[in-house]
Amino acid sequence: MFGFVLLTKQCLFGSLVFMALIIVLLEFLATVQFTMMTTDGIRSSTKNIKNIYYGNHQDNMDSFETSMIDEFYTKEQYSCKNKYYLTHVPNCSLLISADQKEQHFARSFTKMCERNGASAEDYITMASDCATFLRNRKYIMDATDEEFKFPVAFSILMYKDVNQVERLLRAIYRPHNYYCIHVDSSADPSVRKAMINIINCLPNVYEATKSTRVVWGKFSVLEPELVCMKDLLRYGDWKYFINLTGQEFPLKTNLQIVKILKSVDGANSVDGIIERKWRSRWKMAGKPPHGIKPVKGNVHVVINRQFVDFAVNDNRSIDFIEWLNKTKIPDESFFNSLNHNPHLGIPGSFKGTNITTSWETKPYFARYKNWGKQCTNPYFNFPCSGKRKRNICIFGIGDLPRLTSRMELFANKFYWDYQSLTLDCIEEWHRKMIENEYNSTNGGQFNTSYYETMPYLKEVVKN
Ligand SMILES: *[C@@H]1O[C@H](CO)[C@@H](O)[C@H](O)[C@H]1NC(C)=O
Ligand SMILES: *[C@@H]1O[C@H](CO)[C@@H](O)[C@H](O)[C@H]1NC(C)=O
Ligand SMILES: *[C@@H]1O[C@H](CO)[C@@H](O)[C@H](O)[C@H]1NC(C)=O
Ligand SMILES: *[C@@H]1O[C@H](CO)[C@@H](O)[C@H](O)[C@H]1NC(C)=O
Ligand SMILES: *[C@@H]1O[C@H](CO)[C@@H](O)[C@H](O)[C@H]1NC(C)=O
Ligand SMILES: *[C@@H]1O[C@H](CO)[C@@H](O)[C@H](O)[C@H]1NC(C)=O
Ligand SMILES: *[C@@H]1O[C@H](CO)[C@@H](O)[C@H](O)[C@H]1NC(C)=O
Repeated sequence: MFGFVLLTKQCLFGSLVFMALIIVLLEFLATVQFTMMTTDGIRSSTKNIKNIYYGNHQDNMDSFETSMIDEFYTKEQYSCKNKYYLTHVPNCSLLISADQKEQHFARSFTKMCERNGASAEDYITMASDCATFLRNRKYIMDATDEEFKFPVAFSILMYKDVNQVERLLRAIYRPHNYYCIHVDSSADPSVRKAMINIINCLPNVYEATKSTRVVWGKFSVLEPELVCMKDLLRYGDWKYFINLTGQEFPLKTNLQIVKILKSVDGANSVDGIIERKWRSRWKMAGKPPHGIKPVKGNVHVVINRQFVDFAVNDNRSIDFIEWLNKTKIPDESFFNSLNHNPHLGIPGSFKGTNITTSWETKPYFARYKNWGKQCTNPYFNFPCSGKRKRNICIFGIGDLPRLTSRMELFANKFYWDYQSLTLDCIEEWHRKMIENEYNSTNGGQFNTSYYETMPYLKEVVKN
C-alpha cells in the first residue's frame, strides 16, 4: 500500500513493536480515509476565462486556446453545514500574509464546510474527451524558451486520490517535460482507469511500463522508481529528474525550477545522514559491493540525468541494488548512498566529508518536509499548524505563510480533504506566480543567488 511508502522513517524510532503498532493503525486509518474519500473539485470553467497568450510556441502543441488562469477556488466547491459560511469565501492572499482574523474564519470555515470534488469516476468521464478536459482544466500547453531548453523529468507514485494527483500534474505540466506515473497495482480499478484516461490526453505523460504493489520497508518501494527512471531515460533530452508522490505540491513554478537547476550547475539534492543506529538495517546483508559506504536519508530527490543513467545502467549500481535487496528499508539508502560515495564518479554527487544536511553547509532544496522534533536532525523540525501523522506535518491553513516563503522546490505533504483551503490556496498562489511570469516582459525575474551560493556546490563531483 502506498501509504506505507509515506510512512517513511527518516526519523522513526527503532522499535519493531512500535512499527507493528503503527502499521496496524495505518491500515485502519487508510481504510477509514478511503471510505470517507469523496474527492476534489474541478473549478467551473465556463465563466471568466481569460485567454492569455504567451511564449513563441502556441502553434506546436495545441489547437485549443491557451487560456492560463483559473478563477480561483469558489464557494461552489464547498458544501457548508451553515449557509453563513458561504457569504464570505476565505481570501487566500490574506491567509498567506498570516492575517489572524482571516485565519480564524478560515479554520471554522474548513470545519463547517466540506470540499466537494470529482471522483475517479468523474475523471474517467471528463478525460474521455481530451480537448474539453485540457481546456476546462486549463493545462498549460506552452512555455518560455528558457523552459523549452531545459526539460525536466518527473515520476509520480500514487495509489489513490486521483483529484489530488491531477492537481499536482496540472501544476507541473508543460508540453516539453516528461512524466512517468506509477499507479500502485493494488489501486482501485477506477483510479487506474481515470489515470489512464488523463495520461492518454497528454502526449508526454506515460504510465510506468510495469505496475507493482508497494509494500513499505520492502524492495518493492524502490522498484517503481527504477521502472520509471528506466522508462524516462528512453525519452528526450531532459536534464534533471524529480520524484514525487501524489501528496506533494510545487512551491516553485516550472520556470523557477529551471532557473534553480541551472544555477546549481549539475549538483544533486539528496539528503544524507550517517548514524550508528541505522547500521542494523544493513548488517544482515554483509559487505556492500564496490566499496560503497551506505548512507541513509530522505527519499525525495532532485538528481541529474547522468545520475539516473548510472543508477539504472551501471554495473556497480546494479550490484548495489542486489545488495540493498537484502537490507531493511532499501529505498532510504539507494540514492543517498550513490550520492555520497564520490569514488563512483557520479556527476553532481557530493565529495565533501560531512554529508549531514544543514542550513550552513548542505541545504536540501528538493523538498520541504516537516518531520517534527523526534527527528535527530533539527533541519526537518518546524512548528506544524495542521496535524501530524506518523510525525510528518500534514499542512494546515496556518502553514501557508511559511510554505509560500520556502526555498525548496516542493512541499510534502497535503491532504486535499484536510483543511482543504491549504491546498486550494497553495494552488491559487502557485498559479498566480505562473501567470505573473508569463505576463511579464522579462520572463519573470527570480533571484537564484541563494541556490548558487550554497556552500556544498563547491564539493561536487564534476563530469
Ligand atoms: C483578498 O485580499 C486582498 C488583500 O486585502 C485583496 O487585494 C483582494 O482583492 C482580496 N481578494 C478577494 C477575491 O476578495
Ligand atoms: C557489466 O556486466 C555485464 C554482465 O556481467 C558485462 O557483460 C559488462 O561487460 C559489464 N560492463 C562493464 C562496463 O563492466
Ligand atoms: C529481490 O529479492 C527477491 C527475493 O528475495 C527477488 O525475488 C527479487 O528478484 C530481487 N530483486 C532484485 C532487483 O534483485
Ligand atoms: C525517490 O527515488 C528514490 C530512489 O529511487 C527512492 O528511494 C524513493 O523511494 C523515491 N521517493 C519517492 C517518494 O518516490
Ligand atoms: C557535520 O555538520 C553538522 C551540521 O552542520 C554538524 O552539526 C556536525 O557537527 C558536523 N559533523 C562533523 C563531523 O563535522
Ligand atoms: C496577466 O495579464 C492579464 C491580461 O492582461 C490580466 O488580466 C491579469 O490580471 C494579469 N495577471 C497578473 C497576475 O498580473
Ligand atoms: C539576490 O539576493 C541576494 C541575497 O539574497 C542579494 O544580495 C542580491 O542583491 C539579489 N539580487 C538581485 C538582482 O536582486
